[in-house]
Amino acid sequence: MPMTPEEVQLLRDLMEYEAARSAPPAGFPRLPDLPAGRYTDQRFFDLELKYIWRKSWLLAAHLDELPEPGSYIYWDCAGQPVVLIHGDDGGINAFYNTCSHRGAPVVTEKSGRKKRFTCPYHGWVYDRRGSLCAIRDPQDFRDLDFSTRGLKPVRCERFGNLVFVNFDSGAPGLLDWLGPIANEWQEFQFDTCRLAARHVFELDCNWKIAMEANTEVYHVRSIHPATVAPILDDRRNVNTLYPNGHGRMVAPTPPGKAALDALPVSPDIARIDTVGEIARSCTQSYGLFPNWVSPLSQYAIPPILFWPNGINKCRMETWTMAPAWKEGFKPDFWAENDGAELCAVLKEDTQFGEKIQRSMESSGFSGVPLSYQEARIYHWNQAADRLIGIENIPPELRVEQVITDEWIYPNDPRRALLGNKP
Ligand code: FES
Ligand SMILES: [Fe+2]
Repeated sequence: MPMTPEEVQLLRDLMEYEAARSAPPAGFPRLPDLPAGRYTDQRFFDLELKYIWRKSWLLAAHLDELPEPGSYIYWDCAGQPVVLIHGDDGGINAFYNTCSHRGAPVVTEKSGRKKRFTCPYHGWVYDRRGSLCAIRDPQDFRDLDFSTRGLKPVRCERFGNLVFVNFDSGAPGLLDWLGPIANEWQEFQFDTCRLAARHVFELDCNWKIAMEANTEVYHVRSIHPATVAPILDDRRNVNTLYPNGHGRMVAPTPPGKAALDALPVSPDIARIDTVGEIARSCTQSYGLFPNWVSPLSQYAIPPILFWPNGINKCRMETWTMAPAWKEGFKPDFWAENDGAELCAVLKEDTQFGEKIQRSMESSGFSGVPLSYQEARIYHWNQAADRLIGIENIPPELRVEQVITDEWIYPNDPRRALLGNKP
């Protein structure tokens, strides 16, 4: 549901507090340098693969890509081969795309629709629930138990039309993982949004370098002077740190500039009617741990996702979800010419990735000193270490856990600094 008037006022007051302060808030910790090895050391990359990419909820698909029973897509963004299948009961199920016989891929196309899934190697047949239902020459196997030879399931849950997967059977449910964000996102109607565009771009840097360019507004005046800076007042930005490493930024337009909802937009763009005042009038962006960054507005839900592709390469996926659009018009928030290239803002954001990677690999760089403005990056790294298990990380690659729970939503010591506001 949209924020209450009190919540809106609190955010407005916090914006003024941020603009007026002359130092980080009292009690906010000094942030120790992030070790450069977190972007360059294969040991840390391997820990990420083993823990972060196996234990987090990951956005894999939109229901529009799996529209009817039997629809399937192949998905391997997180380094594990997965097939997502729309079941006969309307639910979406995920499985390793790994035949239980000798490991051949059960689906070989990116997407399609099937009643049954027949392995192309020796013809074992699975149904839409992943159960093994037939094999060739069964008389030649002794005591083959079909009930234990189905496709191995991967956890799969939906948030509205979005399909998430998690490789950890012990992970919390998706709603617990999202925490307060699940409620805050009700206003965006994820259960009705359509998928308008989804593209992939290869970048020559560690996935976190690319993501972090979208996790702070400290860079806005330098690299977005003509695109973002005119509509975003970075000194009034309010960061919120949520449990599990998630975060949010909200910034109004600069003083004297019209609010975002007063700016002209194409009449072809539909609105999400339930979006509240803050998301209509300000730039609001959420970071969902580990790899989703998205502004959310009354016009579109356009997440950018970052996927590892080796220590010094990554894939950036750009999605645009929007209310139903008019015939002949397809919203695409981040790419141009149907995904041929990035839009101007993301070109600006990604322009230094490769050079930063080279810097971090050089002897000339040892660590990243972060400011209070960049606290969401530090918060992410603390959560990453806790998910990996701090004791599993070589000491020289850890971050210190200096941001304490008093700074994690719903706690916020800044409120006390506003006077007696709630
Ligand atoms: S590997 Fe699939 S049937 Fe043999
Ligand atoms: Fe940016």
